[in-house]
Order: sequence, then structure tokens, then C-alpha cells
Amino acid sequence: MGVERVQEIANFSKETIPEEFIRTTYEQPALTTVQGTVLEVPVIDLSDPDEEKVVRAIVDASSNWGMFQVVNHGIPHETVRKLKEVGKAFFELPPHEKEAYAKSPGSQSIEGYGTKLQREVEGKKAWVDHLFHKIWPPSEINYQFWPKNPPSYRKNNEEYAKHMHGVVDKLFRCLSLGLGLEGNEMKEAMGGDNMVYLLKINYYPQCPRPDLALGVPAHTDMSAITILVPNDVQGLQACKDDHWYDVEYIPNALIVHIGDQVEIVSNGKYKSVLHRAKVNKEKTRISWPVFVEPPADLEVGPHPKLVNEANPPKVESKKYSQYCFCKLNKTPK
Ligand code: OGA
Ligand code: NI
Repeated sequence: MGVERVQEIANFSKETIPEEFIRTTYEQPALTTVQGTVLEVPVIDLSDPDEEKVVRAIVDASSNWGMFQVVNHGIPHETVRKLKEVGKAFFELPPHEKEAYAKSPGSQSIEGYGTKLQREVEGKKAWVDHLFHKIWPPSEINYQFWPKNPPSYRKNNEEYAKHMHGVVDKLFRCLSLGLGLEGNEMKEAMGGDNMVYLLKINYYPQCPRPDLALGVPAHTDMSAITILVPNDVQGLQACKDDHWYDVEYIPNALIVHIGDQVEIVSNGKYKSVLHRAKVNKEKTRISWPVFVEPPADLEVGPHPKLVNEANPPKVESKKYSQYCFCKLNKTPK
């Protein structure tokens, strides 16, 4: 099909990497990461019975970092372990078995197995392959993009999707209360129970020059929120006040990203986090973000209760599909 998978390139790149993967100096992780600092994205215990305390912690993290980790979140560790096991097994299949799920070149849909995602900045490529498919709601699922091998792929992914609702509801409730809204208003502004959960698996093969390449270049997520689990290889970085920080790997934690839609609905109080992913010399890194998104045709804008003469809306309302189109094609907002 003419698309080169990074997984294949990694097999014959033992000392150097092809030139198109070498980032310009202002992006190179070795030159742009803050070293030896104690600043870290906050870790929040979601099981704390003191809800006000949890709300305060989430408000703080979402306003200052746009990212935090949650522990005691209610998703069984075994469910997460099984999600990771089958995703890893899929990427370890021989190439022709994975290609059966490849996105077709002209496809409008984001779902499927693929390599290039964003328009490449300055022609530079990211050191990653991916698989995208929706996992919720059932009416939105296209099972053609769900691997049949390993056989427990479907069951394990369905199980993870089912367990996510508790965390998603809790996070939106806290984000909502933190803005002085009713507990359900933030979720409603994102489409309520019609929100779509889009799973991505990022597969970052080992890379001989992790100082020069990037797995994912700096971006903010278009989603409302993103909930990510990584394997045990550190690589995610968050940008705060123009500096890049490593996000520590905490076993069994979920990494929550505030996405563009929450920033928009909150009229800028919460910050969509700028983040990127590094790659590793010895180990393959894998991550499983779930992008929790409004339905495509839902119009999203600053919440009416949060705007007034003193606080005018910072952006115009837009259908989510339109927002994504503009961002991906870099047309003005
Ligand atoms: C993404 C992303 C980070 C990671 O896929 O949007 O930011 O840690 N991934 O893999
Ligand atoms: Ni991201």
C-alpha cells in the first residue's frame, strides 16, 4: 500500500534514524526538557469522601496544568491490564494481519490502523504507529476496526469502556461544580450520554535516537477530556509556563488531559494541556488514550451561565465536527 510503518523502520534502524524523523532543535526533547525539577502534574485520589477537596484539587490542576493523574478511580486494575495485553498482542501480529485493519487512503474516517495522522510540521515524521476505533456508545461502534486477533480483544475493550463511565461522570461532575455550575451541566454541554469514546493505541517502537525524535509532537487534544493509560515506559511530557516536564509513570493511575472542548465550555478557566510524547532507546512504549468527545453535530461554546458583560465569550460556538475540521486543516477558528 506504500505506507511505511514505523514498526518496520525500527527493525532496520539500529544506530541512526531516517532524516525525516529528526526534529528541528527547538523541538528536540534532549534540548528542551527541564531537568531535575520537582514540579509534577498533580495526583488526585478520586475515592476521597471529601468531595469538596477533590473538586478543589481538580479545579487547581485543570486551571494550572490542564493535566493530572487519578488514583483509586474505580476501574479494576485487572480490566486495565487486560486492555493493555490485547492491544500489545495486536501490534505484535505479523504486518499483513495488522494491514487488514488499515485505514483506506481516501477515507474521511479516523478509525483504523495507520501511521501518519497530523499534517507533518516541516515535513517531519513522528515515531509512532496507531490504531483508532470507537468504544462507546454501542450505536457508534464500527467493529470492522476492532482486531479479531487476539480473540479476547473485543471482550476486554468492551469491559474497559463499561468501567469508564464512572470515572468520566465523576470528572465532569467535579469540573462542573468547580465552575459554580450544577453537577450535571458540564456533561450536558458535551452531549450527556451521547458523548463518544474514541480509543487510540499509540505504538512507539524502540528508537536509537530518542534525543532527536518525537513520538507525538506538541499538541492539545480536540476532545472534551482524554483519559490515558500507558505501559510502564515513561514518555509523556506536559508543557507548563513554556517549559516541558516529564509526567511520571504511576502504576494503575489514569492520566487525565483537559481537552479543547472543556477549555471552550469553561470559557478559558480550564486549560487544554499542551503535551507531547518521547520515545525510548531500549523499550517499546505503548499508550491507550480514550478521547471523550461531544457528538459530531453538537454545537459547543462557552457555557451561557459563565458569560456576561464582564466575561464575554472567548471563542465562538461551533459544531464539534467543524472544530475538528478547522484544527486539522489549520483554517482560522
Ligand atoms: C495522543 C497523545 C501521548 C502519549 O495520542 O494524543 O498525546 O503518552 N499521546 O502517548
Ligand atoms: Ni494528545
